This record gives sequence, C-alpha cells and structure tokens, in this order.
Amino acid sequence: MTRTVYVNGEYLPENEAKISIFDRGFLMADGVYEVTSVIGGKLVDFEGHSKRLERSLAELDMANPVTMDELLEIHRALIAKNDLVEGGIYLQITRGAPADRDFAFPDPDTTPSSIVLFTQVKNLVNAPAASKGIKVISIDDLRWERRDIKTVQLLYPSMGKMMAAKAGADDAWMVQDGLVTEGTSNNAYIVKGGKIITRKLSNDILAGITRAAVLRLAKEAQMVVEERSFSIEEAQEADEAFVTSATTFVFPVVEIDGKAVGDGKVGSVASRLREIYIEESLRKAI
Ligand code: PDD
Repeated sequence: MTRTVYVNGEYLPENEAKISIFDRGFLMADGVYEVTSVIGGKLVDFEGHSKRLERSLAELDMANPVTMDELLEIHRALIAKNDLVEGGIYLQITRGAPADRDFAFPDPDTTPSSIVLFTQVKNLVNAPAASKGIKVISIDDLRWERRDIKTVQLLYPSMGKMMAAKAGADDAWMVQDGLVTEGTSNNAYIVKGGKIITRKLSNDILAGITRAAVLRLAKEAQMVVEERSFSIEEAQEADEAFVTSATTFVFPVVEIDGKAVGDGKVGSVASRLREIYIEESLRKAI
C-alpha cells in the first residue's frame, strides 16, 4: 500500500516525498516528534500532544511552521486520505535545511523548519501484548539529560530495544542511580498493595500524554497514586507492573530481568486501567 504522507505543505505518495540531505534532523538529530494514536478513525488526546509539541519546540528555540489548527487539519486529512481506522500519526518537525552543514542554528527567517507527517496502521485496542503482558530487562540509562523534550535522538532507545530482543525480552527499562527512569518508549509503573507507583515528572523522563490520562483516571476511580522513583528490585517484588504510551496504551509487564512480577500473570490493576483508558479514549477522540 502506498501511503499519502505530508511534507512541507504537500500531500504526496510516500515514495515521492523528499527531504534535503542538509536537513538538520538528518545531520544533527535536531528535531522533535509526536505520535498521536488513532482509534475508530479519530485522534486520541490531540490537544495533549500538540501542547507537548509546542513545549518541545520552545525548549529548543525551534520555530513551528504550522498553527495548531493547521496541524489538526493535516492529521485529519491524513486519516481520511489513508482510510486510517486504527494506528497512529507520526509527526516530526526539524530545524530545516540550511545551505550547508554547520553546528550553529540557521536563521529561521531564511531556513524554515521542516515538517513531515505520516500514518501508521497498528492494532491498538486488541494488541496481543495486552492480554499476554510483556517481559522487560533493565539497562543503564545512557541518554542525555533533557528527556522531557521529545527529540528524534532515538539511537539509545533503539539500542535498548535490540538489547531486550537479544535477551528474549520485549523491551527495556532504563535505570539511573539505581532507580528506574522509564521504558525505551514508554513510562514505567509498579503496583504495590493497591497503590500505583511511578516516577515523578522532571527532566529525567518524558511527560507521557498517556501517563497524564491514566493517572487522572486512576485517581477518579479512587485508586491511590504515588509519584516517586523505584528500583528494579522493588519492581520485581511488586504485585504488578505496567507501561503506558500512545502506541501501547497500557501494557502489563509480567517479567523483569527474568523474574516474574507477582504471579507472572497480567494484573487486575493494569487490566482495569487499560479498560478505562480505552473506554474514555473511544468516547473523547476527535
Ligand atoms: N514514545 N517515554 C518515552 C521515552 C517515550 O518515547 C514515550 C512515547 C513515552 C510515552 O509518552 P506518550 O504517552 O505521550 O506516548 C514515554 C512514542 C510512542 C514513540 O517514540 O513511538
């Protein structure tokens, strides 16, 4: 299937879309991104993703080439043009393509930001990992210290996923100073005595849009949420563990570094949170 993608103002077949070799996203990983999930042909939490995008751009002093209204229009046009029912929209904005490679930022008046969006088909609601759970390994967190900005510098998370696959696991949780920061592309949680425990927001982790919704829904359902760090050892002794992201929603974690979490089966808290998150998302998607 040839997708229709969006590149710098144009809708094009994916094999005709082009970006300059001087683009700073390509040369310097000087770009930010968002992944917004689509269910029932509608966008989940578009507002949350667009607000985080604006924050990422502002933190890097990068110009936004489109207004948020235009961005919503592009997302919707791509859903329509590609008949997307379930999956996601990937969006990337970079500091554009100056005339040559240079460490200094180009002048935004002469070098506009580049913008690319494309659709991805994915089974989200009935993802097999939701009923099976996933296995994670722990790895050192070797990323830079501004993980709150959603940049396209994803080499280390990619290496983490490869290390996990090599170890027969599905993903990796990253550890800094003995404490879990987050998953390679998701936020990490444990459940102990009915309490949901997850690291508090800081520059150490990405402020997940799914995290915000899940924690709000947990509180609305009278569950206790504690925002604090935890170690791999504490996670291995927990009753349950899970991850959240736009591409997983809530996935239970059933094994950490080869050790079963709880009884090694999908836990009831993770299942309940997944259920209420999907229920609300289906209702509120735009
Ligand atoms: N990743 N932490 C990291 C490091 C992430 O890359 C992501 C998302 C999250 C969860 O954020 P959200 O709930 O807003 O998706 C946390 C996306 C899905 C990706 O890289 O594909």
